[in-house]
Amino acid sequence: MIQINSIGLPQYNAKLFAEELNKQLAHYSDYYQDTKGSHWNMNVDKSFAGHVKFEELYNVLVLKSDEIAEWILTLGFTPEHNDSQDANLSSRKEIKKVADGIQAVAHIPKAYKMIILKQELIPSLVNDAKDKGTTFIMSDYISFQEKEVGIYTSF
Ligand SMILES: [Fe+2]
Repeated sequence: MIQINSIGLPQYNAKLFAEELNKQLAHYSDYYQDTKGSHWNMNVDKSFAGHVKFEELYNVLVLKSDEIAEWILTLGFTPEHNDSQDANLSSRKEIKKVADGIQAVAHIPKAYKMIILKQELIPSLVNDAKDKGTTFIMSDYISFQEKEVGIYTSF
């Protein structure tokens, strides 16, 4: 007999989605660290606007991370929160020169593109189970992030 979770999804599907969402969460945590580094260490004299923009970015990442984590809970699983787990789940390479404004800004669309690629995998998994909640969240994130990629690649 198929086990169903609290929001009516087969447990097997919910587990798959939660695993993918935990990978997303790890990427968001990594990107959050990168944007914090840029916010703190970017050459402020040359780019105060950059300092403010990176604060705006990491605030968005905090909100979205929280939503993803709570969605994992809704699916009936545990959001990962340890650096050691993040390292296993994320495929991101650390950036080192966060003080260089040009490199820091160029990193924004690269990081979002990686996150978008990961997120695009989720709706294809979710379709079979007709999980509208996860599909809606991922679609919402992808459209926001694609707009950000468009903006930051237009400079
Ligand atoms: Fe600050």
